[in-house]
Amino acid sequence: MSEIALLISPETKSAYFQEAVSVAEQEFRWVMPGFDCRLEQRGPFNFLFTQADAEHYPLLLRLSFCQGLFVCEGDRFQPINLEPEFALHEDFVFGSKFKGKTNERLTQLLLNVGLAALPDHAKAHAKVLDPLAGRATSLLWAMRYGLNAWGIEPDGKAQDDVRQLVKKWCKVRRQSHRLRDGVLGNTGRKKDGQFIEFAVEPVKFRLAQGDARQADQLFPKEKFDLLISDVPYGVQHFAGDGTRNPLSLIEQALPAWKAVMKKHSQLVLAFNSYLPQRDALIQVLGDAGLTVADFSAPHRMSESIVRDVMIASAS
Ligand SMILES: C[S@@+](CC[C@H](N)C(=O)[O-])C[C@H]1O[C@@H](n2cnc3c(N)ncnc32)[C@H](O)[C@@H]1O
Repeated sequence: MSEIALLISPETKSAYFQEAVSVAEQEFRWVMPGFDCRLEQRGPFNFLFTQADAEHYPLLLRLSFCQGLFVCEGDRFQPINLEPEFALHEDFVFGSKFKGKTNERLTQLLLNVGLAALPDHAKAHAKVLDPLAGRATSLLWAMRYGLNAWGIEPDGKAQDDVRQLVKKWCKVRRQSHRLRDGVLGNTGRKKDGQFIEFAVEPVKFRLAQGDARQADQLFPKEKFDLLISDVPYGVQHFAGDGTRNPLSLIEQALPAWKAVMKKHSQLVLAFNSYLPQRDALIQVLGDAGLTVADFSAPHRMSESIVRDVMIASAS
């Protein structure tokens, strides 16, 4: 094994703010269990050092904070001439800004920590659901990773926005694709279940109009390996019933979420730890029969938001 330095991207600051380096460490330790690491600042650069082999480079390059890798010999840093391989151009995820968009790097972290918690056999073809999908940042990330994804969002305008977004980037990047509309499930509510499907062979996502609490009715025959979501913060976004407290939404949605999970499935949530507080969320997940993992990555976004991440498994 060689000494490897991971350059912590300056982008990480806009995702994790003052806690960028400690969030990077948490992500690394979770995704690379059994690997030691140390953090060091050199001039303006922050590095995470570890010992690794070439077989680990693809995973290291996909860490949400990693800008690039170096092989270190004493004070000499040799850049490794590798970039992460993705199925879609980065513009699909990073190219558009809209109100309420979840930070792209944080979304990648949610995917990374969720995938790391899956058994090996389920990682390569994990099926992803974002039950609070907004305008599909997580679904596009999943596609970049070569994974099929489904999303639920009650805002009818979201599908039009996502359609515009993917059309634009397909044109700019000359990406061959398929875009179609459809209807799924039976929630008994008008419009619920209408979806748009975006496919770039061999992967696709579907964004369905609906309520996260009806995931099992929207997808009566589907099971998902990974549920990832950025929960409404109760500040910019309201939970569907107008409450500012997303905990009641999660509590009401959990039976439906559990129904679409497999035994090994993981639920990964980003949430404002002021609302709900971490302990309250652990209690609700535990009451629903989920097992909460010992993972936390708190970072202050503003006076009223300290975002954290929770991982819970179905078993
Ligand atoms: C923090 S935003 C997620 C943003 C998304 N990750 C993105 O980048 O576009 C939370 C989303 O949850 C949605 N939401 C609120 N209540 C919901 C419900 N009952 N079912 C499904 N989605 C809901 C909101 O409309 C909002 O789009």
